[in-house]
Amino acid sequence: MFSEYSALGIVHKILKMHVRPGDFCIDATAGNGHDSVYLCELCGKEGRVLAMDIQQSAVDSTIANLEEHGFSDVSEVVCTSHSEIDKYADPNSADCIVFNFGWLPGGSHDVFTRAETSIPAIQKSLDILKPGGLLSLCIYYGRNNGYSERDAIMEFVRSLNGAQYNVMKCDFLNRPNDPPFPIFIVKDKEYYKNGKH
Ligand SMILES: C[S@@+](CC[C@H](N)C(=O)[O-])C[C@H]1O[C@@H](n2cnc3c(N)ncnc32)[C@H](O)[C@@H]1O
Repeated sequence: MFSEYSALGIVHKILKMHVRPGDFCIDATAGNGHDSVYLCELCGKEGRVLAMDIQQSAVDSTIANLEEHGFSDVSEVVCTSHSEIDKYADPNSADCIVFNFGWLPGGSHDVFTRAETSIPAIQKSLDILKPGGLLSLCIYYGRNNGYSERDAIMEFVRSLNGAQYNVMKCDFLNRPNDPPFPIFIVKDKEYYKNGKH
């Protein structure tokens, strides 16, 4: 597992603060399903989790993990690119969407998330989020991934309108070797009030 104040530890703390029983959550990078299981724990039997991954092996592993934890009934796992996320969820429907970029732990290090699909996926996710909804992006970079996806994501999130989206980044200032870091985006409730936008 991961430590409490690692990037993933902080992501899980924020998810716990935000996700409520009955919520609809999306895991846009299912991997081995650990985040999907965690989201199911938070949104409970009344909630729903949609998970997706581009690799069939990750989909199989996530289905098995969800089954093992008794969450088959509240979850759905699809083999697709997250750039197709809008085919699986309506605008303003999700309470929380989670991306954990990089490669499948235990899988090939040559298959990893890339800016060409990550940026459209993030863009579409912002539409799919409900006002008040949370988008969590955990950024892995360096080594095989290189820096281009991180740089593209940073440029994109910095460009978002500050009245519409609250964008926060957590930096690890004294950790060596390209430490992963989380970004959280909250779609502003006030801005979208009364469906004017
Ligand atoms: C760091 S892993 C995710 C770990 C996962 N959240 C967990 O709890 O085990 C990143 C995953 O993103 C997947 N991925 C890469 N490109 C993708 C894409 N375009 N759409 C969806 N998933 C993608 C990889 O196959 C890999 O399984």
